[in-house]
Amino acid sequence: MTWLLTGGAGYIGAHVLRALQDAGRDVVVVDDLSTGVRPRVPDGVPLVSIDLGDSAALAQVFGDHSVTGVVHLAAKKAVGESVERPIWYYRQNVDRILTLVETMANAGTRNMVYSSSAAVYGMPAGEQVAEDEATAPLSPYGETKLIGEWVVRDAARVHGLSWTALRYFNVAGAGSDDLGDTSAFNLIPLIFRAVAAGDRPKIFGDDYETPDGTCVRDYIHVSDLAEAHVIAALATEGSSPIARAYNVGRGVGSSVREVVDMASDVIGRDVNAEVVPRRAGDPAYLVASAERIRDELGWQPTRDLRDMVASAYSASTA
Ligand code: UFG
Repeated sequence: MTWLLTGGAGYIGAHVLRALQDAGRDVVVVDDLSTGVRPRVPDGVPLVSIDLGDSAALAQVFGDHSVTGVVHLAAKKAVGESVERPIWYYRQNVDRILTLVETMANAGTRNMVYSSSAAVYGMPAGEQVAEDEATAPLSPYGETKLIGEWVVRDAARVHGLSWTALRYFNVAGAGSDDLGDTSAFNLIPLIFRAVAAGDRPKIFGDDYETPDGTCVRDYIHVSDLAEAHVIAALATEGSSPIARAYNVGRGVGSSVREVVDMASDVIGRDVNAEVVPRRAGDPAYLVASAERIRDELGWQPTRDLRDMVASAYSASTA
């Protein structure tokens, strides 16, 4: 069984790569290295640096490596950037999944795990959001992720794919010091970046209708997320039915203030965060119902917020 891992030189992809290897699967990585970095791919794992939109080059990879399944992570993922450059986001995220699924169909590759996002839900009303809740993305980024789910769903019907989408909540932490998130788009890396620069981390608003006034999110350790990919990939290889989408979160909400306090605790001094005005488009509360993946696939996260913050800090100072 050889799995093609798109985006395998990225922060999340590098963790998924190791988890697939631990499960005894051969892996070939396709990554255009626009944000991924080569050293994240271990020696001995083929890394093909092509644009996923290049169907001829992609077809060659499927043939050369006898690819049996695809874990598709490669995408642009900055919400704010997607609002500024919507057409480019559609090109990057939608065009490329079309090419990928078409190439899979031509090659007879039947298994797929697609990286989706909690961004497909937009601003849900309830406490915990379940997979069958209405989807209403608030950004082109979230829209491209949802369209990707539709593309795979519709292709699956005619090409007989066995597939699922994993809807990630807030991914954080590092499985080892060399695999940290270097992009600094998200809260936890931004806290440590500010501290390293001698600046004050920012809290975007403390006047939300949440217990301490700051936004609540469901943080999930990247190593737990990586294990979810493996469980999903193996499930597509089996004969049991598999759902179209699984939330990957812990079902535990943490506020921005709680994350900041945890960072102070891990560092051993107050990070001295300052409250600034709200950031546009932030839902007050976004927490997963994580029951479906636990009940149907047996996935159980084992790392908590302290593990995420401590491992992210360790990687940022290594
Ligand atoms: N935040 C701050 N200060 C910062 C950065 C973030 O207070 O310097 C706050 C945000 O306002 C938000 C929370 O911290 O309330 C988390 O923000 P992130 O930017 O880390 O993450 P988001 O929840 O906005 O987005 C994440 C992923 C997206 C994905 C989304 C799904 O980054 O890719 O979850 O809900 F779409």
